[in-house]
Amino acid sequence: MMNDLEPYLLRTYKRIPIDLARGEDVYVWDTAGRRYLDFYAGHAVASTGHCHPRVVKAIQEQAAKLLFYSNVAGLPLRVEAAKLLIQSAPPGFTHAFFANSGAEANEAALKMARKHTGRAAIVAMQGGFHGRTAGAMSVTGVERYRVPPLVPGTTLVPFGDLAAATAAVNDRTAAVILEPIQSMAGVKTASAEYFQGLRGLCDRHEALLIYDEVQTGIGRTGRLFFAPRHDVVPDLITLAKGIASGVPLSAVLVSKPIAERVSYGEHGATFGAGPLAMAAMKATLEVMREERLPDNARDTGAYLAEKLRGVRGVLEVRGLALMAGIKVEADAGAIQKHLLAQGVIVGTADEPGVLRLLPPLTLTRAHVDEFIPHLIGSLHHES
Ligand SMILES: Cc1ncc(COP(=O)(O)O)c(C=O)c1O
Repeated sequence: MMNDLEPYLLRTYKRIPIDLARGEDVYVWDTAGRRYLDFYAGHAVASTGHCHPRVVKAIQEQAAKLLFYSNVAGLPLRVEAAKLLIQSAPPGFTHAFFANSGAEANEAALKMARKHTGRAAIVAMQGGFHGRTAGAMSVTGVERYRVPPLVPGTTLVPFGDLAAATAAVNDRTAAVILEPIQSMAGVKTASAEYFQGLRGLCDRHEALLIYDEVQTGIGRTGRLFFAPRHDVVPDLITLAKGIASGVPLSAVLVSKPIAERVSYGEHGATFGAGPLAMAAMKATLEVMREERLPDNARDTGAYLAEKLRGVRGVLEVRGLALMAGIKVEADAGAIQKHLLAQGVIVGTADEPGVLRLLPPLTLTRAHVDEFIPHLIGSLHHES
């Protein structure tokens, strides 16, 4: 267990000290058989809960039928799955491009925006996180993730500051990219006026608006997508994390005017939209709809926020639905460790003193009631 005892794995990850064996719904079990209440969902990925029977069945059946074939051949399942996604998307989105990770989806969106506008400049947000590949890293607004050489042309502005965005966006701007709720930065969002202002700004300069909904998408904020909240519809939306319940898959939702001008050979990804991932996404979206998971995220999220606000030592509760950030009086890392020792998994953030709660969207009030005493115990233990 732990990094020192993992000789073959490059040490890029600081792990929490557990070795996992299996998962079911909102719980995971370690190799010693100990159960953990999972308020992190493998980084917001296990959207339908761990190993949802319907998703597992769809994956197993597809694996036995056709594990993989690339996009060179048609696949009826791919069309059915994409139709389900597009039919659930905000108005104006007509097509999807599928890749494998959030970074890859953002790369594709940035490339499409540059090609569509014939411009190179991108405006992105300080504190924003979009992935580790060159393009995605170059629009990421956290210094420690930005390893030179960066793709030229990005201006970083403070998130939530419309005056700063207005000063940065001009007729050379291809796109503005942002996480509508900055997760890694500490679960921070902005006002309706800000989002509406960005939309107006992009329209005035004929620049595109890209929402990175890698975390906010697929039900987490109480609706399937953050857009069109505040009556703002972006031009491109990127998705990953919970879209296929844990099978690697990401997507770019593309609005009609951009989709119409995309041509053959312009972009591609061997594994994108493969049969297994499509089966997993289709089952995930069906479960989302039938079990009303976005509604559940909103209701259970409201209950969670109300309970959290009553906890002594919780200074601030941020976020929407089941994307919650809590600012605590104590050291967030120490609380995370203490909670883990009590059998509860939570995340931390780049902002010190912030815990992130990104549980499966199947979370119930009973799970919240199980969580709160552990949080209280950990806060009091550390204070
Ligand atoms: C908002 C956001 N965008 C992009 C990414 C990158 O996704 P991936 O790690 O799948 O490349 C992440 C990952 O945490 C993310 O939270």
